[in-house]
Amino acid sequence: FLSHARPQANPNHLLSLGFAFDIDGVLLHGANVLPEAKRALSILEGNNSLNRKIPYILMTNGGGVSEEDRSKQLTERLGFEITPSNFMQAHTILKSFAHKYANKPVLVLGGKRDVLRKVAKSYGLKHVYTTLDVKAWNPDVWPFHDLTPEERAAATPVDFSTTPISAIFVFHDPRNWALDVQVMIDIILSRGIIDRRRPVENAPPVELVFCNPDLQWRSEFSRPRLGQGAFREAFQGVFKALTGAPYPHVQYGKPTTPTYEFGEKMLRARIEELHGALSTGCEIQPRIYMVGDNPESDIAGANAAGWSSILVRTGVYDPADGLPTHKPTYEAENVEAAVKWAIDREI
Ligand code: G3P
Ligand code: MG
Repeated sequence: FLSHARPQANPNHLLSLGFAFDIDGVLLHGANVLPEAKRALSILEGNNSLNRKIPYILMTNGGGVSEEDRSKQLTERLGFEITPSNFMQAHTILKSFAHKYANKPVLVLGGKRDVLRKVAKSYGLKHVYTTLDVKAWNPDVWPFHDLTPEERAAATPVDFSTTPISAIFVFHDPRNWALDVQVMIDIILSRGIIDRRRPVENAPPVELVFCNPDLQWRSEFSRPRLGQGAFREAFQGVFKALTGAPYPHVQYGKPTTPTYEFGEKMLRARIEELHGALSTGCEIQPRIYMVGDNPESDIAGANAAGWSSILVRTGVYDPADGLPTHKPTYEAENVEAAVKWAIDREI
């Protein structure tokens, strides 16, 4: 069932070894650090038979805060230095093309409102609005949510009847699904102007981008929790019931190819930073091990990217539910067992 065969010996292959770690369900359960997580990272930080640092990145479908702030928090929790050069989250990939929307009004969803607005602006988006701004502009847009005093204080005053929204970015897991679905539908059906019943002649369709397809993820609770993928299904279910078809959207996050290409580029840079391509005189071909808890995202994406994949039993995947939907290279009890198996296999 699992291919344990040792990879082909290659003089430089140890120089090109790298790991990509999923976070939720592998290193953390919500705010709680899994004890084996620190031991696993200590091995990669040099506490291994090679006595060398082995490069790694953290690659999560989570988000909602800046890469700088999340990296600092992870450094404190895990006890090893995590920085934006070895950490990527669901929406990090948006940095590479936010400039195309720099001067267009956009709606962003997920995370805590003023924090997320700051993250979106740090990516270069200038006109960033949230569904709570829409509620503050016209409370009738959704009668079943009352703004808290801090939500009202943080709202950006804007007249949405004259502000055509050009794109909707679902950065992280939305907090108020009903208000969010209602406002998304208003924007999409009016092609940007929320309170118009008909779009303006020749108005372009609104672009819709989701950053995390996870139907479920593992937090502190003993059972997996609904993720951004569940929100997407809720939105598309309502949209289809209203219009007869789901709305076309772009999907980023694990297991999508752009996200894994982004991760490979980050890890390649880390390998070269640590070992330097020049020292081997050849282009480093990374040998990457992805350690994840979700077959649908971590394992599926790693397999499609040609990485080795290790599925752990500390998160979404539960062996009692049967075989995983995507076959990993190896299945391990936890992240420490995964790292030990991979290094032993490579030496
Ligand atoms: O939103 C959190 C969740 O979907 C991401 O989890 O397992 O990719 O770190 P993970
Ligand atoms: Mg996970």
